[in-house]
Amino acid sequence: MPQPPRIAVLASGRGSNLQAVLDAIADGRLAAQVVGVYSDRPAAAALQRVPEALRWSAVPARYPSRADYDAALTDAVAASAPDWVLCVGYMRILSDGFVQRFRGRLLNIHPSLLPKHRGLHTHARAIEDGDAEHGASVHFVIPELDAGAVIAQAVVPVAADDDAERLAARVLSVEHPLLLATLQLAVAGRIAEQGATVTLDGHPLFTPLRLDSAGNSLNR
Ligand code: GRF
Repeated sequence: MPQPPRIAVLASGRGSNLQAVLDAIADGRLAAQVVGVYSDRPAAAALQRVPEALRWSAVPARYPSRADYDAALTDAVAASAPDWVLCVGYMRILSDGFVQRFRGRLLNIHPSLLPKHRGLHTHARAIEDGDAEHGASVHFVIPELDAGAVIAQAVVPVAADDDAERLAARVLSVEHPLLLATLQLAVAGRIAEQGATVTLDGHPLFTPLRLDSAGNSLNR
């Protein structure tokens, strides 16, 4: 029997997106396996969500240089032979070498409607800018931060009395189904990165897929 596609996960924080992936695998909604969780923060709660044998962590400051840390991370991830590498709240900028090594199978979930609000503090910035809508995007990773081709997005309204925390919680509730729906397409081999474009079933996507109002499938 063929082995399920292998997913390596990079995370620095609590790991709720990782948990959504693990839950979906456990109850048969995602035909895949998590083969390793990698963190720059040994205390990250995300690591605790998988058995010890699947955990890898290393503190970048303990390496002689940034390049040494990046090489160690690259080797560790490569050793798990992943089909897909998923960044979910991984808070370090990936080196060009890492990106090139896994290019085309390297995904990130970002809490904004890209290309709006790349980088940090996306929820506060959406409020500051008076955005009527906010959300999350899953995109292919390229060396430029949060600038790769966007595969799929989920949208939430911004309420007049939102603060960053409340808006973040609303976005997080759509991140999990968004990530799952995107991974279902990925592991089925239906999406690919072609330069700055995403293809779905071999055809270019001119706009990102959107989660439907039921929150559990993408609109194609
Ligand atoms: C999410 O909001 C994700 O979009 C961002 O970092 C957060 C990670 O949350 N990149 P969690 O660790 O998955 O709970």
